[in-house]
Amino acid sequence: MKIAARALTLLLAAALPLQPAAAAGDPEAGRELGYTCLGCHGIEGYRNAYPSYRVPKLGGQMAGYIETALRGYRAGTREHPTMAAQATSLTDEEIADVSAYLATLGAETVEGGGSSPAPFDKAAACAACHGQNGISVNAAWPTLAGQYEDYLRHALKQYRDGTRKDPVMTAQAALIAEEDLEKLAHYFSRLEGLETTLPE
Ligand code: HEC
Ligand code: HEC
Repeated sequence: MKIAARALTLLLAAALPLQPAAAAGDPEAGRELGYTCLGCHGIEGYRNAYPSYRVPKLGGQMAGYIETALRGYRAGTREHPTMAAQATSLTDEEIADVSAYLATLGAETVEGGGSSPAPFDKAAACAACHGQNGISVNAAWPTLAGQYEDYLRHALKQYRDGTRKDPVMTAQAALIAEEDLEKLAHYFSRLEGLETTLPE
């Protein structure tokens, strides 16, 4: 089972071209811009007004995924007025730099294997990409461990209703049984992992 999951991961990594050869960002160049982001992402438990859910934790998320998400808001495959406004004002280079900067904050927390909730068998289907402990196996994919439960729920619902589009996750979300969606969000939020991104 473990081997099969690994083989699947390798297969997917080979089959899915990720971002068009993004140059590695410069964390120092992204620092100043990063402070703007911390105005929301750096406040523990800060909420999106409507609908009400917590602003996602970025501490421990890898640069590749932060970039993927920002490009999604900019391209409109993710719908969120504030984040779209933020991302649209950024060049490719700024996106790479600010992602590299934010990835330097809280990165040491993402080891996994800490306190765990009761195992949930439906989460096994997610492990090939999001990792055995909810810690992503690919820099361009999100770590789910420790993310706010309400944000995970919100994101899953968006993949299902099409307001967030991703070829891989849209297909995955469609396979989740209605009664499992909230349980999956609960399970991953309880794993040890992400933290609120705080300035150094
Ligand atoms: C006004 C508050 C606010 C500011 C400022 C802000 N964000 Fe966000 N950010 C949010 C909210 C709310 C979401 C969730 C949006 C959604 O539902 O898709 C989000 C989502 C994200 C995500 C997706 C995370 C995930 O796990 O899917 C990333 C990455 C991100 N923001 C990066 C940034 C960066 C980089 C900046 C600075 C350039 C920034 N944000 C500035 C409020 C903010
Ligand atoms: C084949 C790989 C793959 C599998 C399997 C998979 N995912 Fe994903 N998941 C992704 C990718 C890629 C993204 C980022 C998509 C994007 O850019 O919006 C993602 C994004 C997410 C997000 C959004 C996180 C955030 O921070 O915004 C959630 C929540 C999620 N997945 C939950 C799950 C759950 C629950 C399962 C199992 C039922 C699952 N995924 C299975 C690849 C996968």
